[in-house]
Amino acid sequence: MNSIKETPWDAAVFGIDTYELETISIETMKSVKSRKGHYTARVNSLESTLLLHEAGFYYCDTLLQPYCTKEMLKKYDDKDVTIHKASDFKLLLGICHGAFRFGRFHRDPNIHDSDADRRYDEWLHDLYKQHKVFELRYDGKLAGFIGVEENTLILHAVAEEFRGRGLAKYLWSALCSELFNNDHTEILSSISAANVAALNLYISLGFRIRNSTDIYHYLNKC
Ligand SMILES: CC(C)(COP(=O)(O)OP(=O)(O)OC[C@H]1O[C@@H](n2cnc3c(N)ncnc32)[C@H](O)[C@@H]1OP(=O)(O)O)[C@@H](O)C(=O)NCCC(=O)NCCS
Repeated sequence: MNSIKETPWDAAVFGIDTYELETISIETMKSVKSRKGHYTARVNSLESTLLLHEAGFYYCDTLLQPYCTKEMLKKYDDKDVTIHKASDFKLLLGICHGAFRFGRFHRDPNIHDSDADRRYDEWLHDLYKQHKVFELRYDGKLAGFIGVEENTLILHAVAEEFRGRGLAKYLWSALCSELFNNDHTEILSSISAANVAALNLYISLGFRIRNSTDIYHYLNKC
């Protein structure tokens, strides 16, 4: 199928074929209509979505890209915060499971919340196996995690019992400083526009926001 790529990691979780559109055109829509599966389309927020709507795609999320240079970072230091390479997946899973309710699959009425939860659990597991996850500890206790790929913070959460206490900026500061010390010149992330706690966190740290991308889904049950 031209202009449509398979996303086998999602197919394995949802038990149906899953795809992501690389271009949006009449030809692509014909392919979508001809094959059963779950489809994702990402569009710049000002791009026309007429073809998507005509084909039956529905809106699920808007992703924003926070970015920060070393000069922009507002650091919050706390001597009780430490970061470590993650070493116990079960503990991380306890934080991850059910945490990502702002994710696009949780907001998709065609996907069960339990499957959406498993999708994030599996993603974390993949990152963990690749040694890309950092544990964030507060006073020696596991308080959160951040999955990192190069200079991008891709999957992150604070443990429920530590959430909402204004701690996240101290935990994130420690990891951002570590990345800048490792010669990265810019740090990126990706957050849902609806996730105001994450948005406020990045703003507190001095990040700016760019690249607004709308996510549309479609389920072809044919
Ligand atoms: C996003 C997350 C990491 C933030 O951690 P947290 O401990 O909840 O956040 P904090 O209490 O440190 O607050 C962060 C900022 O958001 C603000 N905030 C917190 N909860 C808020 C809410 N419900 N509404 C609006 N603002 C909120 C705080 O005032 C704070 O800003 P400040 O430090 O300038 O005062 C955490 O909520 C979480 O793990 N959520 C589940 C997983 C998730 O959504 N991860 C992000 C995926 S993109």
